[in-house]
Amino acid sequence: MSSNTYLSKESSRKKPQTLLQLIEFENYGFENILDKFRNLNNRRFHNNNTSNYSLPNDKIEINRLQLSHMLLKNAFGGNFSSPVHNKLSDGISVLDVGCGAGHWVIENAEKYPKSTFVGLDMSPIFPKDDKPQNAGFIECNVLDGGLPFPSNTFDFVHQKLIHAEFTENQWLLLIKEIARVLKPSGYAEFMEVENYIHNSRPHLKEFQEKVKRFYEANNLCFDIATKLKDFIDYTKCFSEVKIDTRKIPVGKWGGFFGELMLIYLCMTTEAFATMKGKMINCTKEEYDKIYENIYKEIEESNTNLVYKRFYAQKI
Ligand SMILES: C[S@@+](CC[C@H](N)C(=O)[O-])C[C@H]1O[C@@H](n2cnc3c(N)ncnc32)[C@H](O)[C@@H]1O
Repeated sequence: MSSNTYLSKESSRKKPQTLLQLIEFENYGFENILDKFRNLNNRRFHNNNTSNYSLPNDKIEINRLQLSHMLLKNAFGGNFSSPVHNKLSDGISVLDVGCGAGHWVIENAEKYPKSTFVGLDMSPIFPKDDKPQNAGFIECNVLDGGLPFPSNTFDFVHQKLIHAEFTENQWLLLIKEIARVLKPSGYAEFMEVENYIHNSRPHLKEFQEKVKRFYEANNLCFDIATKLKDFIDYTKCFSEVKIDTRKIPVGKWGGFFGELMLIYLCMTTEAFATMKGKMINCTKEEYDKIYENIYKEIEESNTNLVYKRFYAQKI
């Protein structure tokens, strides 16, 4: 617990600055807000003053990220869609924004020993020592002043499922920052998942609508995968944006892969439970009940998740 915890209740009452912190403030009291991490419902979350990010950052989350990394790499047939394989083999500089536990960085650093890989995340859940020599990690919140690198530093900037609760303006600033640190002709690549699960049935639809209303009421981008291309175009920093899409089956109908995707979806639901429960104003028990019905719908309705990679070259 940080020494800030001992601030008087009066002064600490002014501290919460983000939405989710405000929710926290009402439900959990001021001690949690002032710590670097906070524990809620037996999960560990990050805790800072500028981000609304709502996924945990504990061991269970690292396992979820590892499964997601493995599934998506298989679904797309590789770790990226940009045409950079030859350059990576020759040796270039690469940045992974929101690198999480560093699975993408480590795997690529091992595959391309002549290239240098930097992973950046506001949660220091990446490896500190056990990593290849050509990989490094930086703890940084991109909302606190952008990317801490000079202009024209990297040949390839990658960002996968940052799942950030960013406003439109924050997304635009981040894309411009990525363009700034890229060298001319360097590639930027973003992967996101569509927030609307296809073939949605009544329970799922109702849940998605409630979450969407919360995002909209708070000026946060709900379905970034459907907006990202326009945002990238809007910055005028990149040439034509290419999109690589995978419609991935979830549940038994998708065979072994579909069953793994359902496990991944269940882990993701559980990871979001604390914050999304708050967003739609329900208890953990009510949230679990909603999802029991949603899983039944998913099993009955040949559901897909749609993942998209957007990639473009800096002008
Ligand atoms: C869902 S995880 C994905 C991690 C990794 N890209 C992967 O695919 O395994 C999203 C990551 O983005 C990071 N993130 C979210 N908002 C961020 C911000 N404002 N600055 C830096 N990192 C952020 C989170 O801490 C988290 O580790």
